Amino acid sequence: MRHYNIAVDGPSGAGKSTLARRLARALGCLYVDTGALYRTIALWMLREHAETEEEITGKLSGLTVTMDYLEGEQHVFANGEDVTPYIRTAEVSMAASRVSAIPAVREFLFRLQQSLAEEHSVVMDGRDIGTVVLPDAEVKIYLTASAETRAQRRFLELEEKQPGAQTYEDVLRDVIRRDEQDMNREISPLRQAEDAVLVDTSEADLDESEQMLLDVCKEKLGL
Ligand code: DC
Repeated sequence: MRHYNIAVDGPSGAGKSTLARRLARALGCLYVDTGALYRTIALWMLREHAETEEEITGKLSGLTVTMDYLEGEQHVFANGEDVTPYIRTAEVSMAASRVSAIPAVREFLFRLQQSLAEEHSVVMDGRDIGTVVLPDAEVKIYLTASAETRAQRRFLELEEKQPGAQTYEDVLRDVIRRDEQDMNREISPLRQAEDAVLVDTSEADLDESEQMLLDVCKEKLGL
């Protein structure tokens, strides 16, 4: 089978993981959610009470991050423990944004991401996949939506899990703060690769967005 890689980058809440997962299924590729890898490190550092760059960098040598697929879903492991259920909290989201600005953390995950893409055809989603991790990816997509749309989507998701835990305004504030952190950091900031196709999902539902992504892939891959 032909080998190719698809990079999907963009800010949080643009629908990257849902859409990248659907795209991978439609094309028969492996889906790799790189945010989950950063979240795994963030959770570990919270548990270890490592806060400064020096402390976090030091603790990396005692950590092994791996991933596996259980019933078709990606699970992440910290030193063999399946931490997948614990990485989606607001606290871990904020911490992931912070740890991902540390060069040693990016270096730590770089090789894991590249080797996955060498071994499999992947749809890999993240922030720097098209710019840094897989600069030669056959398809690069920059997926975005307005901050308000993204906050509204995340708010509805959170309401389903924990009604009343957060207001829409809280979520919007977090979305804007994370965008700032992710776009303005010195190392691997979130930005659109020159050769990435911009897809804005502000006005589209999931099915329409999936179709937009499939169209881009089919054209680029000649399918
Ligand atoms: O996509 P996500 O919300 O699960 O990502 C969590 C954090 O990890 C996010 O704030 C940015 C960071 N991240 C990154 O810096 N590079 C990636 N390739 C993926 C995620």
